[in-house]
Formats: sequence, C-alpha cells, structure tokens
Amino acid sequence: MNTLLLEALKGQNKSRPPVWLMRQAGRYMPSYRALRNKYSFLELCHHPELITQVTLLPIQEFGMDAAIVFSDILMVPEAMGMQVQFEENVGPLIANSIHSPQDLCQISYSLPLEKMEYLTKAIQALKSSLNVPLIGFTGAPFTLASYWIEGKTSRDLKKTKIFAYTMPEHFQTVLSRLEKGVIQALECQLKAGCDVLQIFDSWAHVLSEEQFKIFCIEPLKRISKALQKYNKPLIYFCRGSSFRSPFIAEIPSMALSCDWMVPLHKIRAKHSTLPLQGNLDPEALFLPLGKLKEEIASLLDSMAKDPAFIFNLGHGILPDTPYIAVQELINLIKTK
Ligand code: CP3
Repeated sequence: MNTLLLEALKGQNKSRPPVWLMRQAGRYMPSYRALRNKYSFLELCHHPELITQVTLLPIQEFGMDAAIVFSDILMVPEAMGMQVQFEENVGPLIANSIHSPQDLCQISYSLPLEKMEYLTKAIQALKSSLNVPLIGFTGAPFTLASYWIEGKTSRDLKKTKIFAYTMPEHFQTVLSRLEKGVIQALECQLKAGCDVLQIFDSWAHVLSEEQFKIFCIEPLKRISKALQKYNKPLIYFCRGSSFRSPFIAEIPSMALSCDWMVPLHKIRAKHSTLPLQGNLDPEALFLPLGKLKEEIASLLDSMAKDPAFIFNLGHGILPDTPYIAVQELINLIKTK
C-alpha cells in the first residue's frame, strides 16, 4: 500500500509529497463523460458499482496517491430529506428549500443509515481493489445548511446570513441536525473502510470571525471529538484558509486544505506542524505546459522536504481542464 498520504498527515513524510486533486473524478475526463452519457450524475452517485468504477478512473489513468470516494456533499442532506436535482450547467437545485421555522420539519433528526448503504458497499468494494488510501467525505454543517436555505448555489449566501441573523435559534437547529447527520455519515464511511476523511466547508469564507467560530469551529470540534476513537486523520477545507488557520490548528489531529489565495509557505510559517494540503490555483491548469510546470515547481520548492505537505489544488478541478495538464502535474510530482 502506498502510504505517502498517511505519513504526510502524521507529519512524517520523508519522501516526495503525496498528490491527489480535489474532485479528481469529473467531466474533464473523457472516460467520465462517456459514463455521464449513459447515466445522470445522481445515478452515478447512487449505485455502488458506478461509484466504485468512477472512483477508480483517475487512479487508473493518472496514478494519484489517494482515491476519494465518488459522491457529493449533498448526498447526506438528501438522505435527511433534501429534494435535490443536479441541473446541467446550473448545479444543484433544491425543491424543498428552507425559509421559515415551519420548514424545519423537512430535515430529519438524524441520518437514516440504510439510505447510505450504496456508499458503504462501494467503499467496501474499493478497499479490496485499491493500493492507495481511500478518502471519505461530507460537507460541513454550515455549507450544507447554506445549500438547503439558498436552494441553489449562491454567490453571497444572502438568504442564509439573513436566516442566521433573524432566526438564530432555528438556524442552530438546522446546524445541529446536520451536524448529527455528518457525524453519522463520517462514522459509517470509517466503519466501511475509509482511511482518511475530508470535510468541505466551501462557503465558510462569507462569515465573520465570530460567526465562523460558532457556526463552523464549534461543530467541527464536536465532529472531531466524536470520531476520535477511530484514530483516523481529518482534513478540513474552507476558502479563506489563510485567515482561518489559527482556529483549525487548535483542533487535535486536524489537517487544513488551503485555497490558492495565499502562498502555502506563509501558512506554514504560522503553524510549524499543522498538516497542510494545497494549493495550486485550478485555473493554473490552463497555462501552456511549460508555464504550468514552472508554477508547480515553484510550489514544490517552497514546500521542499516539508514532512506534512500534501500537493493538491486550492479548489475543485474545473470541468474543462485540459487532460494533459493533469497528466503533466502528476508526472512532475512523482518524478521530482
Ligand atoms: O474528487 C472526487 O472525485 C469526488 C467528487 C466530488 C464531487 N463533489 C462530485 C461532483 C466532491 C468531493 C464534491 C464536493 C462538493 N460538491 C463540494 C465541495 C467542494 C467544492 O467544490 O467547494 C460542493 C460545494 C458540492 C456541491 C456541488 N456538486 C455543486 C455546486 C455542483 C455543480 C457544480 C459543477 O461542478 O457542476 C456539484 C456537481 C458535481 N459534484 C459534479 C461532480 C463530478 C458534476 C456533475 C456532473 O457530472 O454533471
């Protein structure tokens, strides 16, 4: 088993940095698009054989150092009552979005675990065919709440923030139900065999520091505590990671997945042992290959011999990313 990722997460990697890419199985791959011609995105997410197949595509084609279970952050809220569809070129659309206290009855009190069976089956199948660590994931309670309240992807999360300001107790209810579901979902992925977990808080950057502490950090601490007994690493992704890092560094055995906005070595200068993942700008993959190689080399050099560094993108890979750029990226890191 290739254990580079696990070593880096313990701060003990003595060899080249491990690499995996956020949303590494996706539309930039012809093999994925071919499957999407046959199946909808939700069909791919709901069938164990398809989840297994899609998860393996990038590993087989590029050889990343970790696999991430093919799913979506909205699959947990879906199991808790969210009616979600993925519209081509639009993204998620939620039919029963939450606007008022009466709407809270849409959210179940906990995650019906039988609704996660397709995922556990896929994880079990993946474990027997993978020779790299398998990453399980969920969204963070705040980011999941924001989708449910907005009903779609929003730029500013206006509805969510107004909900939080004007109905604070109800907002806490939404968060705490989702927190419970997230803990159950992560626990179920660990029991099925995942080696590492990642929590995506993609929208946390719109919050004030005080709100971030209450809506994101407090739940994250409880999630981390609830999973402590499994002794598996947890990675937290948010945008605005450079100014949020002090809060993450306080949580035991937590790693930080960073956006591209601040050079990683500057975050390293603030936290000498915090495992850091990141942070190539996904748009850099559109550079001419020579320039792309320079960008990658400069990131690698700035983190050279760092025992707690994982190479990744600063956000999800874009659907029209040139395939060859991903090939170059992986080859460069593996031969460096
Ligand atoms: O890396 C992997 O292979 C795992 C796959 C993965 C997906 N979504 C598949 C996906 C992961 C880790 C996610 C996480 C996710 N989903 C996040 C957090 C990360 C981030 O980007 O901030 C968020 C916010 C979502 C919600 C979501 N799902 C949106 C906003 C969209 C539409 C935008 C888009 O890219 O089309 C999705 C759809 C989605 N999730 C796709 C994939 C491959 C595209 C669906 C398709 O095939 O048409």
